[in-house]
Amino acid sequence: MTVNIGVVGTGMIGREHIRRLSTVISGARVTLVTDVAADAAQEVAAAVGAQFVPKAEELVTSDQVDAVVVTSPGPVHPEQLSLVIKAGKPTLCEKPLATTEADARGLLDAELALGRRVVQVGFMRRYDAGYRDVRAAVAGGRIGTPLLMHNVHRNPDVPAHWTSENTINDSVVHEVDTIRWLLGEEITSVQVVPPAPHPDHPGVQDPQFVLFRTASGLLATVEAFVRAAYGYDVRCEVVGTEGTASLVNPVRSSLVSATGEVQAVPASWKDRFEAAFNTEFQEWVDGVAAGAAPTGPSVWDGYANVLVAEAGVRAIATGAVERVDLPAAPELYR
Ligand SMILES: NC(=O)c1ccc[n+]([C@@H]2O[C@H](COP(=O)([O-])OP(=O)(O)OC[C@H]3O[C@@H](n4cnc5c(N)ncnc54)[C@H](O)[C@@H]3O)[C@@H](O)[C@H]2O)c1
Repeated sequence: MTVNIGVVGTGMIGREHIRRLSTVISGARVTLVTDVAADAAQEVAAAVGAQFVPKAEELVTSDQVDAVVVTSPGPVHPEQLSLVIKAGKPTLCEKPLATTEADARGLLDAELALGRRVVQVGFMRRYDAGYRDVRAAVAGGRIGTPLLMHNVHRNPDVPAHWTSENTINDSVVHEVDTIRWLLGEEITSVQVVPPAPHPDHPGVQDPQFVLFRTASGLLATVEAFVRAAYGYDVRCEVVGTEGTASLVNPVRSSLVSATGEVQAVPASWKDRFEAAFNTEFQEWVDGVAAGAAPTGPSVWDGYANVLVAEAGVRAIATGAVERVDLPAAPELYR
C-alpha cells in the first residue's frame, strides 16, 4: 500500500520532508500540499507531482490524503491538529505540539476524547542510532543505576532576532524530550544558570546552562550554546554506578597530517540528524500502512515538553528553581 500524504506548510523543513517523502521513504507519496504562501507552495507541489489546495481543512478531509505531515510554525499547530484529530487522520507534526500550556492541554483533551492516538510529534532524536544505543544501554542496566546525565547542544549560528527564550523553546526542548525518553522519568524542576554572555551578543543569554531534576531526583544538565561558530555539536552522556553511556559524533572520515588528526564536526542539525529524520518518517509511514497506532513521541510527550519549556522560560527570568507541575499521564499514553 502507498500512503498518500498531505503536507501543511512548505517552508524550510516542509520542503525537506517533501523531498524525503518523495525520494527517500518507501511506500509514501505526497498528494496534496497547502501553505498560506500559495505561489511558493504551488511550485513545491508541482515539483513532486502533488496538488496545491488553499486551506488546511480541505487537505485534511480530502480522500486523496491518508495521513498528514504538519510543518507550519508552532503557534498554528493547535488549529491544524484540531482538524486532524477531528478527522481521525494519522499525523506527524513537527515539534512543538503547541506553544502554550493551554493549547497543548486542548489537544491532549481532544485526542483523549477521540480515544486513540492520532498525532505523533517530531522529536526526531528518538530515531537517532546513537541516542537509541545510549537508551538501550541505560535500560539494559549496562551502566548500573543511572545517577546523572550531561548534555551539550551547540549550534553554529542563529538568526539575528533569536532570544534567550528561543534557546529554551527551540533548542533545549529537544533535550527536554531526550531526558524524559532516555531516563524514562518526568522532569520536576528547571533552573537556568547564566555563564558569561557572548561578547558580541550581550543582550541574549548565550550560552545557557540548564539544570533539570527528574521525579526520582536524577540531575540532567544541558549546556546550550546557539552561536558556537565551529559547527553543530550535540553530546549526551549518562553516568551510572557501573559505567557511562555516551553519544559519539558521527564521523565520515578523518584527516591525518603533520599538524594532527582532524575529524569534521557536522555543519548543521540537518546533517547531524538526516538519518534520524529518515528513520522517523519510514517507521511512521510503515505504521500508517499497517494501520497501527503511532509509537513515536505522543501528544502527552508534546504536552509535557511544553510545560517544561514554559518553566524553563520562567527560570531565565527568575534564576530560581522553577517547579514543573505535571499531572499523571492518562492511561492512553502509559
Ligand atoms: N525537528 C527539528 O529539529 C526542527 C527543525 C526546524 C524546524 N522545526 C519545526 O518545524 C516547524 C516549521 O519550521 P520552519 O523552519 O520550516 O519554518 P518556516 O517559516 O520556514 O516554514 C513555515 C511555513 O508554514 C507556512 N505557514 C504559516 N502559517 C500557516 C498556516 N496557517 N497554514 C499553512 N501554512 C502556514 C509559512 O508560509 C511557511 O512556508 C516549526 O514548528 C519548527 O519548530 C523542527
